[in-house]
Amino acid sequence: MSQALTLAVDGGIAVITFDLPNEPVNKFSAAVIAEFDAILTRIDTDASIKAAVLISGKPDNFIAGADIDAFLEFKSAKDAELASAAGHKAMERIERSRAPIVAAINGACLGGGLEASLACAYRIASDNPKTVLGLPETQLGLIPGAGGTQRLPRVVGLQAALDMILTAKNVRARKALQIGLVDELVHPSILREVAVQRAREIASGSRRHEEKKHGAKEVVLEDNPIGRAVVFRQAREMTLKKTRGNYPALLAALDAVAAGYHGTREQGFAEEARLFGEMSATAVSNQLIFLFYATTALKKDSGIADASVKPLPVKQIGVLGTGFMGAGIAAVSVMQNVPVRFKDTKHEQVGRGLAAVRDVLKDRLVKRQITKQQFDDQFSLVSGTVEYTGFGSVPLVIEAVFEDLAVKHQVLAELEPKLPAHAIFASNTSTIPIAKIAAGSKRPERVVGMHFFSPVHKMPLLEVIVTPQTAPEVTATVVAFGRKLGKTVIVVNDAPGFFANRILAPYINEAGRMLDEGVPVDVIDRALLAFGFPVGPVTLLDEVGLDVAGKSGAVMSAAFGDRVKPSAALGKLIASGRLGRKGKKGFYLYDERGKKGGVDESVYAIIGAPQRQASSPALVQEIQERCALAMVNEAVRCLDEGIVRQPRDGDIGAVFGIGFPPFRGGPFRYADTLGAAELVKRLQALDVQYPGRFVPSARLVTMASDGTRFYPATGKPVG
Ligand code: NAI
Repeated sequence: MSQALTLAVDGGIAVITFDLPNEPVNKFSAAVIAEFDAILTRIDTDASIKAAVLISGKPDNFIAGADIDAFLEFKSAKDAELASAAGHKAMERIERSRAPIVAAINGACLGGGLEASLACAYRIASDNPKTVLGLPETQLGLIPGAGGTQRLPRVVGLQAALDMILTAKNVRARKALQIGLVDELVHPSILREVAVQRAREIASGSRRHEEKKHGAKEVVLEDNPIGRAVVFRQAREMTLKKTRGNYPALLAALDAVAAGYHGTREQGFAEEARLFGEMSATAVSNQLIFLFYATTALKKDSGIADASVKPLPVKQIGVLGTGFMGAGIAAVSVMQNVPVRFKDTKHEQVGRGLAAVRDVLKDRLVKRQITKQQFDDQFSLVSGTVEYTGFGSVPLVIEAVFEDLAVKHQVLAELEPKLPAHAIFASNTSTIPIAKIAAGSKRPERVVGMHFFSPVHKMPLLEVIVTPQTAPEVTATVVAFGRKLGKTVIVVNDAPGFFANRILAPYINEAGRMLDEGVPVDVIDRALLAFGFPVGPVTLLDEVGLDVAGKSGAVMSAAFGDRVKPSAALGKLIASGRLGRKGKKGFYLYDERGKKGGVDESVYAIIGAPQRQASSPALVQEIQERCALAMVNEAVRCLDEGIVRQPRDGDIGAVFGIGFPPFRGGPFRYADTLGAAELVKRLQALDVQYPGRFVPSARLVTMASDGTRFYPATGKPVG
C-alpha cells in the first residue's frame, strides 16, 4: 500500500507530511494510524529529532476526520468502543511524543483531524478562508471519539467546547484564535516556515505554549463544580428542548464531557469510548450516516446517464422577476461571484429586489461571514433592468415571475429572441408542469425547471425538473450550476408538484382533515414536531401563505383526485380572507412584526370548535401515523411513476426540501425501518377508516410480499 505519511528531517526538526494517495482529502483509517505509530516510534528513538511539525500535503485540506467507511464495519457497540480506544492511544502518542509536535493547519481540520491537533503541543492555523476547525461527529449521530470531548474543553473552556460539539459547527481560523483553539494565525504561504520555527523554539525552551485565559464570566461559571453544574444543566435543557430527545448523541456528548470533569483522566476517556460505541450502534446514527453518503454521492452525480455530456460554463445569469424568490436566487449567485442581470416590470420593483439582495449579503457581513470588501464586490455583481438589456449574452436565465402560465409564456416569448441560441430557460415554478411552460418555447429542449426552496439562501435543496424534451446538456448544466450555488441537487421528472411538493400535499391535507374532524391546531402541530419535523403542518400552512397553499392544493387535487384533496378547514380560512403569516392572520396569532404567538382561537369560529380536546398518546400516534404514512406512501408512488430516479434522491429531497426528520433518514429509509409488510398493514388499516386516501402503492405491496427493501440492510447504503 502506498504511504500517506512522509517524514523529512532537517536541522533537528522533523516534518510529517500527511498526503493520502488518490484521495482529495486526508482521512484517518487504521492503516494511517499504523503509519503514524511507526513515525512516532522513529521520532521517539531518534535523538537527533528535537521537535516535529504535522502538516498536510493537500492544497486546501488538513485532515477531514476519520474514514467513515470504517464506521460501517463495526458489528457492535463494542467494536466501535475498541476503535475509539485505539484512537485514544494514537492521540496519546502524539501528546506524549518525546519531541513536541506542532500542528500546521491549512484547510479543513475536522473530527479526528482536530482531535489530533488538540493532542499537539502547539497549533498554528493559516488565515486561508478554507481553514475551518470543528467536531462534526454529532451530525452523524456520534460523539467525538478520539479524545475531542476530553481535550477540547481543556483548551477552549467548557462553554466554547460544548458549543462546538453540540452544534457541530465549524469555526473559522480567526475565531479559533479568539477562543484559544489555535495559538497563532499566519498567511498560508509562511505556514510551514513559521511552524518549523515554532517547533525549534519549543524544543529549545525559548517558547512555551501559553494557556488562554478565559473571560471573567466564564471563569466564575466554569472553574468551580457548582458553576459547571449550571452550564451542564442549561446545555442539557436546551438540547432536549431543541431535539425533543430525538438525537441521543447530543446528550451522550454532554455526558462524555462531564465525565472528564467528574472522574480521573482515564475515566473521562473510557467514558468517551464507551459512549462513542453506544452511539455508533443507534438507528439514528445509521440514518445520519446514510444521509452523509447520499449527499456525497449526489455531489458526484451529473444528473444524466451519458457521462460524455459536459455542463456548459455559466459565467453570468439572468433572473426574471425580482420578487421574493428572484432576489434569493440572485443573492446566492453573486455570493458565488456569478454576475446577475435582474429584470422586472417596474423600476421600483427592481429597486426592491436589489434591496433584498443587499439585505441577504448584509446579514452575512454582520455575521462576519464576508468582509466589507467582499460585500461591496458581491453586491456590485447584480444589476437591474426593466427591459431585456444585457440578456444578449447570458447562457442561463432563471425565471421567478408570478405563478401564472400566461405570464411565464409572455416572458418566454419576449425573451427568447433576445437570448443566445443555446441559452437555457429555467423556471422556478412551484406547481406548473415544465412541459406546459416549454410548450410556449421555440426551443423546448432548452427549457428546464430549477425549483428552489424559500428562503433560497438558507434552504439546501434544489429540485431540477426535466421533461422528455430537455436536452441532457441542459440538465447537466443546471445541475452543475445548482451545485456551484452550494445546493444539494436532485433531478426529478416533470409531474404536478414534482417530488417535494407532491409528497407534502397528502401530509398537509391529512393534517387539514384532522382540523375538519375537530382536532385542535396545536395538538396536530405538536405531534408532528415530536415526530421530528422542524415545524408542524398547520404552522407550515401559515408560513407558505394560505392563498398559495390553496392554489397549489387545487393543482394537486386536479391531478391526483380525492387522495390529495385540500381540507375544508383550509378552504374556509382562505374564504375568510386570512393569508397566514404574511397577512399577520392565519391559524396562529402574529404581532405587527410578524412574530408568531399562540393559536388564534378565533379560527375555531370559522372551522368549527375542536371536538377532540385531549391530546392523548393515542391521538398523537394517530396524527403522526396518518400524516407521515400518507407522505411515505406518496413518495413510493413517485418512485413507481419515475418522478424520482431512486430512493436516495427521494430521501434527500424530503429531508433537505421539506424537513422530513433527518434521524429517520427520509421516507424510503423510514419505510425500510418499518418494513414493507408492516407499512402495508398499517396503510390498509387506515384505508378502511379513511377510504381512498391510504391505498398502499403497488411497489409497497410487492415488497411486502417478497420481503424486499429499498436499501441494503448492511454495508454502504448508497454507492
Ligand atoms: P413574488 O410575487 O414575490 O415575485 C414575482 C415577481 O415577478 C414580482 O416582482 C413581479 O413584479 C415580477 N413579474 C411579474 N410579471 C413579470 C414580467 N412579465 N416580467 C418580469 N417580472 C415580472 O413571487 P415569488 O414568491 O418570488 O414567486 C416567484 C415564482 O417562484 C413563482 O413561480 C412561485 O411559484 C415560485 N416559487 C415560490 C416559492 C415561495 O416560497 N414563494 C418557492 C418556490 C417557488
